[in-house]
Amino acid sequence: MIDLQTVKLNDGVGVPLLGYGTGTAVRLSGKEKAVDFIKMAYSEAKLCHMDCAQRYFNEESIAVAMKDLGLKREEVFITTKTYKRRKLDVEEVDLFLIHVPDELKEIGLGKAWEMMEQLQCEGKARSIGVSNYRIADLEETLKTAKIVPSVNQTDRDVVEIEVHPYVFEKAKPLIDYRHQKGIAIASYAALASIVRHPGGPVDQVVKDIAEELSMTEDQVLLKWAHQVTYGGIVITTSLKKERLQGQVKAFATMPYLSDTQVRTIADAGKKLYFRQFVSI
Ligand SMILES: NC(=O)c1ccc[n+]([C@@H]2O[C@H](COP(=O)([O-])OP(=O)(O)OC[C@H]3O[C@@H](n4cnc5c(N)ncnc54)[C@H](OP(=O)(O)O)[C@@H]3O)[C@@H](O)[C@H]2O)c1
Repeated sequence: MIDLQTVKLNDGVGVPLLGYGTGTAVRLSGKEKAVDFIKMAYSEAKLCHMDCAQRYFNEESIAVAMKDLGLKREEVFITTKTYKRRKLDVEEVDLFLIHVPDELKEIGLGKAWEMMEQLQCEGKARSIGVSNYRIADLEETLKTAKIVPSVNQTDRDVVEIEVHPYVFEKAKPLIDYRHQKGIAIASYAALASIVRHPGGPVDQVVKDIAEELSMTEDQVLLKWAHQVTYGGIVITTSLKKERLQGQVKAFATMPYLSDTQVRTIADAGKKLYFRQFVSI
């Protein structure tokens, strides 16, 4: 596997910290184009962590891209997520997440987690975790869990962990809770302030910091998301190779934002509440 910085999970598995998301722009481009974008992300930007989900209906694009590039299984880190009660038909993934807790009410979160533990025992997933879990969902899971979930990718209720400046204030308690429990955080939508809500109070602040650090705005926002999640995994995406190369470079060679810069962005973000994904 290409050596990108890794985030170590509580079970010892190392996750390349920058993940290439296939659930938004890549998914919308269609299955065939998705293959090309995944190949581009891997070969041109050296992004070896692919984030997908059964509900994106393009998981196989990763397999096709790997085959086309002649990659061995261990050269790509694959995160994927469950969809409703669809059969967990994974051959062997690196990180397998429960995608949406509300879909599991019938079987219960404890039972669902037991099934995940079983998958890990069988060697079908190197690491297991959850996504969209609120504090209450985590508490219910932890009551009977034998294995503590390694990652909580998102949260979509009262306290979100969609991580960008316009949700950070609300997400902070949940981020801290997970951190205390030793659960790594993977964030998405870090670029919402420039992509989904341009013209807001954060823009000028990010622009100024980008100039100070000789970075681009997307580089600043991705590093900010990483830093405010205690060095968490960051899932982003782009259809442009130069942008992806710049983002990888930001994590490989560019400086961290100072505490003051991190705080200045957070403070500017408090002036507006905006959430990108009301539901996924
Ligand atoms: N677990 C979950 O429930 C969940 C939910 C949502 C998403 N996700 C994952 O997270 C991934 C990323 O989500 P996201 O797309 O919302 O992430 P994002 O990182 O906030 O946004 C990525 C978008 O930003 C654009 N962009 C990048 N730099 C820019 C700039 N300087 N100016 C303007 N636009 C810029 C990119 O377009 P270009 O092509 O133009 O660069 C791309 O479409 C998804 O694909 C999915 O894998 C998971």
